[in-house]
Amino acid sequence: MDQTKVVKPETLDDLIKILHKMFEGDSVNVEEVQQVMESYRSNPQEWKKYAIFDKYRYTRNLVDEGNGKFNLIALCWGEGHGSSIHDHTDSHCFMKMLQGQLKETLYDWPEGKSQGDMVKKSDRILEENKVAYINDSIGLHRVENASHTEGSVSLHLYSPPFGHCQTFDERTGHKNTVKMTFWSKFGDRMTAETALSQENN
Ligand code: SIN
Repeated sequence: MDQTKVVKPETLDDLIKILHKMFEGDSVNVEEVQQVMESYRSNPQEWKKYAIFDKYRYTRNLVDEGNGKFNLIALCWGEGHGSSIHDHTDSHCFMKMLQGQLKETLYDWPEGKSQGDMVKKSDRILEENKVAYINDSIGLHRVENASHTEGSVSLHLYSPPFGHCQTFDERTGHKNTVKMTFWSKFGDRMTAETALSQENN
């Protein structure tokens, strides 16, 4: 693990190889993963085949399955696209900006059975190449591309991988379980049939 600490990935493929090594064991060193992902300098030539946008909502495009230890997913956010407020199903979530900016708003978990507005903790703008991290003990978040002129692309690493998460209504705190699927896998668009059952949060 220590060997990977100083390695700077030169390409996206390099980054993926290093991540495979870092996730070989049972524990995850959050700071190291964050550092390595941040030191990869985004090069659109290397990720453009995964960056498949939709007009209506953000897309989730599978880049790598991390030997079953993690999923690496390119998320493409058109102008004004955003996620619901959601959790991360007990997984680590690393989010690296490949292009443009995203706004991340953090929320507290809604309390017990009480109904009412969800409590906003903070928000920030994530700039190109930066890496944000969240897990369920930090709270919930919503991610959005606030730009009216530019699409954004972010690279998310989820470990362990998950196929469902919970979304939360901002006004009531009411939650729903949502299935998360892929718009494309390894650069190939899902078939029309698979795409029809697409839901993301
Ligand atoms: C996120 O976790 O911030 C993005 C949501 C997703 O993976 O669909």
